[in-house]
Amino acid sequence: MIASRPTRRARAAGTRLTSRPAAATLAAVTRTPEHVLRNRAMWDQWAESYVQPGLRNWSAAEPVWGIWGIPEAEAGILPADLAGRDCIELGCGTGYVSAWLARRGARPAGLDNSAAQLATARDLQDRFGLRFPLVHASAEQAPFADATFDLAISEYGASIWCDPYAWIPEAARLLRPGGELIFLVNSVLLMLTTPDEEDAPATDQLLRPFFGMYRFEWPDDDSVEFHLGHGDMIRLLRRCGLQIEDLLELRPAPGATTRWPLATIQWARQWPCEEVWKARKPSL
Ligand SMILES: C[S@@+](CC[C@H](N)C(=O)[O-])C[C@H]1O[C@@H](n2cnc3c(N)ncnc32)[C@H](O)[C@@H]1O
Repeated sequence: MIASRPTRRARAAGTRLTSRPAAATLAAVTRTPEHVLRNRAMWDQWAESYVQPGLRNWSAAEPVWGIWGIPEAEAGILPADLAGRDCIELGCGTGYVSAWLARRGARPAGLDNSAAQLATARDLQDRFGLRFPLVHASAEQAPFADATFDLAISEYGASIWCDPYAWIPEAARLLRPGGELIFLVNSVLLMLTTPDEEDAPATDQLLRPFFGMYRFEWPDDDSVEFHLGHGDMIRLLRRCGLQIEDLLELRPAPGATTRWPLATIQWARQWPCEEVWKARKPSL
Protein backbone atom coordinates (compact mmCIF):
# COMPACT_ATOMS: atom_id res chain seq x y z
CA MET A 1 0.00 0.00 0.00
CA ILE A 2 1.25 3.26 0.15
CA ALA A 3 1.37 1.51 2.41
CA SER A 4 0.50 -1.99 2.64
CA ARG A 5 -1.80 -3.09 -0.07
CA PRO A 6 -4.65 -1.76 -2.16
CA THR A 7 -8.07 -1.81 -0.60
CA ARG A 8 -9.91 -5.05 -0.77
CA ARG A 9 -12.40 -3.28 -3.05
CA ALA A 10 -9.65 -2.43 -5.54
CA ARG A 11 -8.51 -5.99 -5.38
CA ALA A 12 -11.94 -7.44 -5.92
CA ALA A 13 -12.40 -5.27 -8.99
CA GLY A 14 -9.38 -6.92 -10.59
CA THR A 15 -9.33 -9.87 -12.89
CA ARG A 16 -6.77 -12.62 -12.76
CA LEU A 17 -4.15 -12.07 -15.42
CA THR A 18 -2.51 -15.40 -14.77
CA SER A 19 -4.60 -18.39 -13.81
CA ARG A 20 -3.09 -20.37 -10.96
CA PRO A 21 -2.35 -23.47 -13.07
CA ALA A 22 -0.79 -21.21 -15.75
CA ALA A 23 1.30 -19.44 -13.09
CA ALA A 24 2.42 -22.82 -11.75
CA THR A 25 3.49 -23.97 -15.23
CA LEU A 26 5.30 -20.69 -15.94
CA ALA A 27 7.00 -20.94 -12.55
CA ALA A 28 8.29 -24.41 -13.40
CA VAL A 29 9.57 -23.34 -16.83
CA THR A 30 11.15 -20.06 -15.77
CA ARG A 31 12.24 -21.23 -12.33
CA THR A 32 10.63 -18.11 -10.95
CA PRO A 33 8.63 -18.77 -7.80
CA GLU A 34 4.91 -18.87 -8.46
CA HIS A 35 4.17 -16.15 -5.88
CA VAL A 36 6.57 -13.79 -7.71
CA LEU A 37 4.68 -14.34 -10.97
CA ARG A 38 1.29 -13.93 -9.31
CA ASN A 39 2.36 -10.74 -7.53
CA ARG A 40 3.84 -9.37 -10.77
CA ALA A 41 0.53 -9.87 -12.57
CA MET A 42 -1.43 -8.24 -9.73
CA TRP A 43 0.92 -5.27 -9.40
CA ASP A 44 0.95 -4.64 -13.16
CA GLN A 45 -2.82 -4.47 -12.84
CA TRP A 46 -2.88 -2.27 -9.71
CA ALA A 47 -0.16 0.13 -10.94
CA GLU A 48 -2.59 2.67 -12.35
CA SER A 49 -4.18 3.26 -8.95
CA TYR A 50 -0.71 4.01 -7.52
CA VAL A 51 0.10 6.86 -9.91
CA GLN A 52 -1.61 9.62 -7.88
CA PRO A 53 -0.40 8.39 -4.49
CA GLY A 54 3.08 8.11 -6.02
CA LEU A 55 2.87 11.70 -7.26
CA ARG A 56 1.75 12.89 -3.81
CA ASN A 57 4.65 11.16 -2.12
CA TRP A 58 7.19 12.37 -4.70
CA SER A 59 5.85 15.89 -4.01
CA ALA A 60 6.16 15.60 -0.21
CA ALA A 61 8.77 17.97 1.18
CA GLU A 62 9.61 15.50 3.95
CA PRO A 63 9.21 11.70 4.01
CA VAL A 64 5.89 10.47 5.41
CA TRP A 65 5.54 6.78 6.19
CA GLY A 66 2.95 4.08 6.02
CA ILE A 67 -0.80 4.23 5.75
CA TRP A 68 -1.10 7.15 8.20
CA GLY A 69 1.58 9.30 6.58
CA ILE A 70 3.61 9.59 9.79
CA PRO A 71 6.28 12.28 9.30
CA GLU A 72 9.91 11.19 9.38
CA ALA A 73 10.50 13.64 12.24
CA GLU A 74 8.11 11.53 14.37
CA ALA A 75 8.85 8.08 12.98
CA GLY A 76 12.67 8.28 12.91
CA ILE A 77 13.06 5.65 10.22
CA LEU A 78 15.91 6.97 8.07
CA PRO A 79 19.59 7.02 9.05
CA ALA A 80 20.77 10.48 10.06
CA ASP A 81 23.45 10.81 7.42
CA LEU A 82 22.63 9.54 3.97
CA ALA A 83 25.04 11.68 1.96
CA GLY A 84 27.03 9.59 -0.49
CA ARG A 85 25.47 6.30 0.65
CA ASP A 86 24.63 3.65 -1.95
CA CYS A 87 21.05 2.53 -1.32
CA ILE A 88 18.77 -0.12 -2.81
CA GLU A 89 15.00 0.11 -2.45
CA LEU A 90 13.60 -3.40 -2.69
CA GLY A 91 10.10 -3.25 -4.18
CA CYS A 92 10.30 0.46 -4.96
CA GLY A 93 6.93 0.77 -6.70
CA THR A 94 6.64 4.38 -7.88
CA GLY A 95 10.05 5.14 -6.36
CA TYR A 96 9.21 7.89 -3.88
CA VAL A 97 11.32 6.46 -1.06
CA SER A 98 14.31 6.45 -3.41
CA ALA A 99 13.48 10.05 -4.38
CA TRP A 100 13.51 11.03 -0.69
CA LEU A 101 16.88 9.31 -0.29
CA ALA A 102 18.32 11.06 -3.36
CA ARG A 103 17.20 14.44 -2.01
CA ARG A 104 19.15 13.68 1.16
CA GLY A 105 22.32 13.14 -0.84
CA ALA A 106 22.20 9.34 -1.17
CA ARG A 107 22.74 7.36 -4.39
CA PRO A 108 19.61 5.16 -4.60
CA ALA A 109 18.60 2.46 -7.04
CA GLY A 110 15.02 1.18 -7.17
CA LEU A 111 14.23 -2.47 -7.88
CA ASP A 112 10.72 -3.75 -8.57
CA ASN A 113 8.99 -6.85 -9.90
CA SER A 114 6.34 -4.87 -11.85
CA ALA A 115 7.17 -3.21 -15.18
CA ALA A 116 4.04 -1.07 -14.87
CA GLN A 117 5.07 0.31 -11.47
CA LEU A 118 8.53 1.07 -12.84
CA ALA A 119 6.98 2.88 -15.82
CA THR A 120 5.24 5.21 -13.33
CA ALA A 121 8.51 5.65 -11.44
CA ARG A 122 10.20 6.65 -14.73
CA ASP A 123 7.44 9.17 -15.53
CA LEU A 124 7.80 10.67 -12.06
CA GLN A 125 11.58 10.89 -12.49
CA ASP A 126 10.99 12.91 -15.68
CA ARG A 127 8.41 15.10 -14.01
CA PHE A 128 10.67 15.90 -11.03
CA GLY A 129 13.95 15.91 -12.96
CA LEU A 130 15.47 13.39 -10.57
CA ARG A 131 17.13 10.30 -12.03
CA PHE A 132 18.33 7.11 -10.40
CA PRO A 133 18.61 3.55 -11.76
CA LEU A 134 15.40 1.50 -11.91
CA VAL A 135 15.77 -2.25 -12.22
CA HIS A 136 13.09 -4.76 -13.20
CA ALA A 137 13.75 -7.85 -11.09
CA SER A 138 12.57 -9.78 -8.08
CA ALA A 139 14.11 -8.80 -4.75
CA GLU A 140 14.45 -12.54 -4.08
CA GLN A 141 17.15 -12.61 -6.80
CA ALA A 142 18.60 -9.14 -7.09
CA PRO A 143 21.01 -8.67 -10.03
CA PHE A 144 23.75 -6.96 -8.02
CA ALA A 145 27.11 -8.11 -6.72
CA ASP A 146 27.69 -8.89 -3.05
CA ALA A 147 28.37 -5.88 -0.80
CA THR A 148 27.14 -3.23 -3.25
CA PHE A 149 25.01 -1.11 -0.91
CA ASP A 150 25.19 0.74 2.42
CA LEU A 151 21.41 0.68 2.92
CA ALA A 152 18.66 -1.70 1.78
CA ILE A 153 15.18 -0.33 2.43
CA SER A 154 11.63 -1.45 1.80
CA GLU A 155 8.31 0.17 2.67
CA TYR A 156 5.63 -2.42 2.01
CA GLY A 157 7.68 -3.70 -0.96
CA ALA A 158 9.80 -6.86 -0.74
CA SER A 159 9.07 -6.59 2.98
CA ILE A 160 5.59 -8.04 2.52
CA TRP A 161 5.43 -9.34 -1.07
CA CYS A 162 8.55 -11.52 -1.05
CA ASP A 163 9.28 -14.71 0.83
CA PRO A 164 11.29 -13.50 3.84
CA TYR A 165 13.44 -16.64 3.70
CA ALA A 166 14.52 -15.54 0.19
CA TRP A 167 14.61 -11.73 0.22
CA ILE A 168 16.22 -11.14 3.64
CA PRO A 169 19.28 -13.34 2.91
CA GLU A 170 19.46 -11.56 -0.46
CA ALA A 171 19.33 -8.11 1.20
CA ALA A 172 22.04 -9.19 3.66
CA ARG A 173 24.19 -10.35 0.73
CA LEU A 174 23.83 -6.95 -0.98
CA LEU A 175 24.95 -4.99 2.09
CA ARG A 176 28.48 -3.89 2.76
CA PRO A 177 29.89 -4.52 6.24
CA GLY A 178 28.32 -1.87 8.47
CA GLY A 179 25.37 -1.51 6.08
CA GLU A 180 21.76 -1.26 7.28
CA LEU A 181 18.54 -3.04 6.43
CA ILE A 182 15.35 -1.07 7.21
CA PHE A 183 11.88 -2.31 6.36
CA LEU A 184 8.29 -1.40 7.14
CA VAL A 185 5.52 -4.01 7.34
CA ASN A 186 2.00 -4.51 8.62
CA SER A 187 2.20 -5.34 12.30
CA VAL A 188 1.81 -8.88 13.56
CA LEU A 189 -1.23 -7.75 15.56
CA LEU A 190 -2.88 -6.32 12.46
CA MET A 191 -2.32 -9.51 10.51
CA LEU A 192 -3.90 -11.59 13.26
CA THR A 193 -6.96 -9.36 13.76
CA THR A 194 -7.85 -8.43 10.16
CA PRO A 195 -10.97 -10.16 8.84
CA ASP A 196 -10.97 -11.82 5.44
CA GLU A 197 -13.86 -9.64 4.27
CA GLU A 198 -13.19 -6.84 1.82
CA ASP A 199 -12.65 -3.40 3.40
CA ALA A 200 -13.18 -4.70 6.94
CA PRO A 201 -10.76 -3.02 9.38
CA ALA A 202 -8.74 -4.83 12.03
CA THR A 203 -10.77 -5.97 15.01
CA ASP A 204 -10.03 -6.53 18.69
CA GLN A 205 -10.24 -10.29 18.20
CA LEU A 206 -7.56 -12.77 17.25
CA LEU A 207 -8.96 -14.20 14.02
CA ARG A 208 -6.15 -16.52 12.98
CA PRO A 209 -3.35 -18.43 14.69
CA PHE A 210 -0.04 -16.78 15.48
CA PHE A 211 1.91 -20.00 15.28
CA GLY A 212 2.83 -20.82 11.72
CA MET A 213 2.11 -17.36 10.34
CA TYR A 214 4.07 -16.97 7.12
CA ARG A 215 2.21 -16.95 3.81
CA PHE A 216 -1.08 -15.07 3.42
CA GLU A 217 -3.57 -15.27 0.56
CA TRP A 218 -6.89 -13.43 0.46
CA PRO A 219 -10.12 -14.70 -1.03
CA ASP A 220 -10.65 -11.75 -3.38
CA ASP A 221 -7.47 -11.63 -5.48
CA ASP A 222 -4.49 -13.63 -6.64
CA SER A 223 -1.69 -11.96 -4.70
CA VAL A 224 0.50 -13.59 -2.06
CA GLU A 225 1.87 -11.82 1.02
CA PHE A 226 4.31 -12.95 3.69
CA HIS A 227 4.28 -11.99 7.38
CA LEU A 228 6.37 -13.58 10.11
CA GLY A 229 5.89 -13.56 13.86
CA HIS A 230 8.51 -11.68 15.83
CA GLY A 231 10.47 -14.72 17.03
CA ASP A 232 10.75 -16.13 13.52
CA MET A 233 11.84 -12.72 12.20
CA ILE A 234 14.49 -12.32 14.90
CA ARG A 235 15.87 -15.80 14.19
CA LEU A 236 15.90 -15.16 10.43
CA LEU A 237 17.71 -11.81 10.71
CA ARG A 238 20.28 -13.32 13.05
CA ARG A 239 20.78 -16.33 10.76
CA CYS A 240 21.51 -13.90 7.94
CA GLY A 241 24.31 -12.42 10.03
CA LEU A 242 22.41 -9.22 10.84
CA GLN A 243 22.33 -7.49 14.22
CA ILE A 244 18.89 -6.23 15.17
CA GLU A 245 19.04 -2.58 16.22
CA ASP A 246 15.40 -1.64 16.62
CA LEU A 247 11.77 -2.55 16.13
CA LEU A 248 9.68 0.60 15.85
CA GLU A 249 5.97 0.28 16.51
CA LEU A 250 4.41 3.15 14.60
CA ARG A 251 1.62 5.12 16.28
CA PRO A 252 -0.28 7.75 14.29
CA ALA A 253 -1.12 11.09 15.91
CA PRO A 254 -4.69 11.54 17.22
CA GLY A 255 -6.89 12.61 14.33
CA ALA A 256 -4.59 11.14 11.65
CA THR A 257 -6.44 9.85 8.60
CA THR A 258 -5.79 7.16 6.02
CA ARG A 259 -7.33 6.14 2.71
CA TRP A 260 -6.75 2.49 3.59
CA PRO A 261 -9.52 0.72 5.49
CA LEU A 262 -7.08 -1.52 7.31
CA ALA A 263 -7.63 -0.05 10.78
CA THR A 264 -9.52 2.78 12.43
CA ILE A 265 -7.57 5.53 14.14
CA GLN A 266 -8.98 4.31 17.47
CA TRP A 267 -7.46 0.90 16.77
CA ALA A 268 -4.13 2.28 15.58
CA ARG A 269 -3.85 4.52 18.66
CA GLN A 270 -4.20 1.45 20.90
CA TRP A 271 -2.18 -1.14 18.99
CA PRO A 272 0.65 -0.84 16.49
CA CYS A 273 -0.67 -1.21 12.99
CA GLU A 274 2.75 -0.96 11.35
CA GLU A 275 6.25 -2.05 12.39
CA VAL A 276 9.70 -1.01 11.20
CA TRP A 277 12.65 -3.37 11.59
CA LYS A 278 16.21 -2.05 11.64
CA ALA A 279 19.16 -4.43 11.39
CA ARG A 280 22.82 -4.00 10.56
CA LYS A 281 25.53 -6.12 8.97
CA PRO A 282 28.45 -6.03 11.38
CA SER A 283 31.53 -4.06 10.36
CA LEU A 284 34.61 -6.11 9.56
C1 LIG B 1 2.98 -1.14 -2.09
S1 LIG B 1 4.24 -1.09 -3.30
C2 LIG B 1 5.64 -0.53 -2.39
C3 LIG B 1 6.18 0.72 -2.95
C4 LIG B 1 5.83 1.96 -2.20
N1 LIG B 1 6.56 2.07 -0.96
C5 LIG B 1 4.35 2.05 -1.95
O1 LIG B 1 3.96 1.82 -0.79
O2 LIG B 1 3.62 2.32 -2.88
C6 LIG B 1 4.65 -2.82 -3.43
C7 LIG B 1 5.66 -3.05 -4.54
O3 LIG B 1 6.31 -4.30 -4.30
C8 LIG B 1 6.61 -4.82 -5.56
N2 LIG B 1 6.95 -6.25 -5.49
C9 LIG B 1 6.12 -7.30 -5.31
N3 LIG B 1 6.82 -8.44 -5.35
C10 LIG B 1 8.12 -8.09 -5.56
C11 LIG B 1 9.33 -8.83 -5.74
N4 LIG B 1 9.36 -10.17 -5.72
N5 LIG B 1 10.48 -8.14 -5.94
C12 LIG B 1 10.48 -6.78 -5.98
N6 LIG B 1 9.36 -6.04 -5.87
C13 LIG B 1 8.21 -6.69 -5.64
C14 LIG B 1 5.34 -4.56 -6.35
O4 LIG B 1 5.55 -4.71 -7.74
C15 LIG B 1 4.98 -3.16 -5.91
O5 LIG B 1 5.47 -2.18 -6.78
